[in-house]
Amino acid sequence: MTSSIKNSPERFKFLERSIEKIRKHRKVLDSEFDYSLFPNDNPIISSKHWSPIPVIQKSIQMLKPDESSTILDVGSGCGKFCLVGSLLSPAKFTGVELRESLYRISIDILENFSFPRVRFLNINMIDLDWSEFNMIYLFNPFYENIYEFFRIDENLDFGPNQYAKYTATVSAKLRLVTSGTKVLTYHGFGGDFPNDFYCIDSFKIGKGELDLWIKE
Ligand SMILES: C[S@@+](CC[C@H](N)C(=O)[O-])C[C@H]1O[C@@H](n2cnc3c(N)ncnc32)[C@H](O)[C@@H]1O
Repeated sequence: MTSSIKNSPERFKFLERSIEKIRKHRKVLDSEFDYSLFPNDNPIISSKHWSPIPVIQKSIQMLKPDESSTILDVGSGCGKFCLVGSLLSPAKFTGVELRESLYRISIDILENFSFPRVRFLNINMIDLDWSEFNMIYLFNPFYENIYEFFRIDENLDFGPNQYAKYTATVSAKLRLVTSGTKVLTYHGFGGDFPNDFYCIDSFKIGKGELDLWIKE
């Protein structure tokens, strides 16, 4: 993966146009948005790893966030879910991303555009306290560990043991969140929900499914 930001002026013009369209609820192509967000030589990375805009729109409809909502995107990549989600709702968004190269792209967007309710953290989701969030989004963040053809790059250590550790950590963190916390998964997260979580809505979209869970 190249983390260099290519063609910045053109790229930002494209991105500005897409942001305006999303604000006005007009159709934006993922390919257009993704290239201006993440100008990589390999567009397949974006199409596989960043939430499609229709998925984000549907996520917001399912979560129904308001001003008091604090949404965590676990493994935020270059920030697409948080950025687009904040254009479509009044919630506060936090994205936590392990890869510094992707985190830097998301921070670059915040430095060039106004997204007052969005912040990004460059840490392992293991080291974050999840208790301040009342909505959590997981787009199958650890899959690279068990499927080598799905990797963004080779810059991390991968493996089934780490997959087991990460998915077990998510389950453990979900045991600690407060009652009423909503968790939305896209393609699941690979682990089990604690017994006090109930799946209250599911929606098939694209090649995947959005599942909305709520803590009793
Ligand atoms: C499938 S992508 C989803 C990106 C973003 N959530 C979206 O929907 O557009 C999963 C992301 O999780 C990140 N990730 C994987 N393990 C992580 C961890 N332990 N802590 C934080 N981020 C992680 C990866 O680097 C990748 O950017």
